[in-house]
Amino acid sequence: MPTLPAQLSADLATALNQAGIELPEGVSADVTAAQDTRFGDYQTNIAMVLAKSQRTNPRALATSIVENFPAESISETPQIAGPGFINFKVKPEAFASLVTDIARDTDGRCGMEKVANPKTIVLDFSAPNVAKPMHVGHIRSTIIGDTLARVARFAGHNVITDNHIGDWGTQFGMIIYGWKNILDQDALAADPIAELLRVYKTINDQCKADESVRDACKLELVALQAGDEANLEIWQKCVELSKQGLQGIYDKLDVHFDHWLGESAYNDRLGPLVERLIDEKIAEESDGAICVFFPDNKALEEKPCLIRKGDGGFLYATTDLATIDFRVEEWKADEIWYVVGAPQQLHFQQIFEVAAKMGHKTNMEHIAHGSILGSDRKLMRTRSGDNVQLTDVLTEAVERSRAIIEEKNPSLTDDEKETISEIVGIGSVKFAELSQHRMTDYIFSWDKMLALTGDTAPYLQYSFVRIQSIFRKLAENEGLDQAGIDTLLANATVALSEDGELTLARQLGRFAEIVPMVLDGHRPNLLCSYLLELARAFHSFFEACPVLKATDTATRDSRLVLAHATARTLETGLGLLGIRVPEKM
Ligand code: ARG
Repeated sequence: MPTLPAQLSADLATALNQAGIELPEGVSADVTAAQDTRFGDYQTNIAMVLAKSQRTNPRALATSIVENFPAESISETPQIAGPGFINFKVKPEAFASLVTDIARDTDGRCGMEKVANPKTIVLDFSAPNVAKPMHVGHIRSTIIGDTLARVARFAGHNVITDNHIGDWGTQFGMIIYGWKNILDQDALAADPIAELLRVYKTINDQCKADESVRDACKLELVALQAGDEANLEIWQKCVELSKQGLQGIYDKLDVHFDHWLGESAYNDRLGPLVERLIDEKIAEESDGAICVFFPDNKALEEKPCLIRKGDGGFLYATTDLATIDFRVEEWKADEIWYVVGAPQQLHFQQIFEVAAKMGHKTNMEHIAHGSILGSDRKLMRTRSGDNVQLTDVLTEAVERSRAIIEEKNPSLTDDEKETISEIVGIGSVKFAELSQHRMTDYIFSWDKMLALTGDTAPYLQYSFVRIQSIFRKLAENEGLDQAGIDTLLANATVALSEDGELTLARQLGRFAEIVPMVLDGHRPNLLCSYLLELARAFHSFFEACPVLKATDTATRDSRLVLAHATARTLETGLGLLGIRVPEKM
């Protein structure tokens, strides 16, 4: 079923047609959600937009549109307000049929249609540099990227997720040197990531103090790049161990990649790529290095993109350009989305510009994000000043939610407590991340993200659980099994009259409108706000409108359908955020 505003938009087009008003090129009969629902559920400003070209005043135009508005529309007779707004109040029957559809649909789409023209979207996110553990800051790209992948798939696009790990950086000079000189095999066997980090940090410190170590590391890097067998073997082992460590974190986060094509996968393409750019006169020599200049681009005029250093070494940009070639050729990418922190803005501006010069038509987006701050408003650090490791954060999240659950519901079994604290703990961290505008720097706060009554995952999960408990109680009272409940829901007729019911129904209808907006601006926070509003609408409804104690069975059943549709939408919406819901908590 098309969304309510899409249906209203179609009716509006009919009315305009009937009234003999033609839409000028580029103008569409848009209908948007009303700011103030006292006057209607949706509105349009089309009369104001068209008044000038129609040489009439907006109110007169609005009147003629309303007079021609189809009576069979899902809207009551539209009302004109202010300078010429047209307000639509959706008929309760239309809301009722929408709620029924959401409650009954078996494909879990909650009223959302798939896009008519699916695109192939490559999503590049997470992409940590290996041999260094992921720190808390990596969660932003990882979680935002995973959510965008889920939402884009849900919308019907063909999504390819690729973890473009940094597995060929200069850090390998230090790691190989350290591996040969200070590696502790037992420590490596016990906790590879920790040992690799220790090696990296120790050598990094030595490099700062001692030029001879610096030189030795450089030699190891050059040997690696030249294909030295021993160094390649060490490199390979480091990458393998790091990947295993990363995989453990992704498993905990329930994040999946279709591919892990790291930087090293493109090594063979770098030389030929640079040659091609020189041949095509896109790149040129400058002081021994090879650069792309952007004389026609004001912002980049003074910021050439370096693609080969004087010593022959390639750069981050070179790899990214080779990666674009591959993704377009092999995967036929229509879009490539990079979820990477804001400090890399210049890098992406440059490579997008070079890609355009290379003739790529693919739409590329740098989906930037801000940082996570500690309570001192500085980048989050441990007491000793180190980066906070992501695994530690996730472990703590689960432990803390376990304590809360123990206190709230001690009668749960140990197994239940364990599962629920996983779901709630990880969900809390994700929701805290996703509910922020991605560009804002936010302060990491356990208390805020775990609160049962704030703008949090536990609040939403608890709302879902509350609905489940209505149905458990119903089953108990009436001696029904799941099949019995399904039959009851299937036979119920939804009739909405109370404010609480209508507000909840209106909110349910908006799900299908919000999901596409998440993709338009790459803004998962819109879905978070939506779900919070939905949960609030449910709680208001539940306070004002008794469900199991409704005055008659018909009302009870109608409200049960509303509750069920809410649970489905909460579960589906949270699922798009990569957040699971428990049955109890
Ligand atoms: N490895 C990079 C970093 O940690 C991020 C890579 C992002 N993706 C890309 N295609 N450049 O900064």
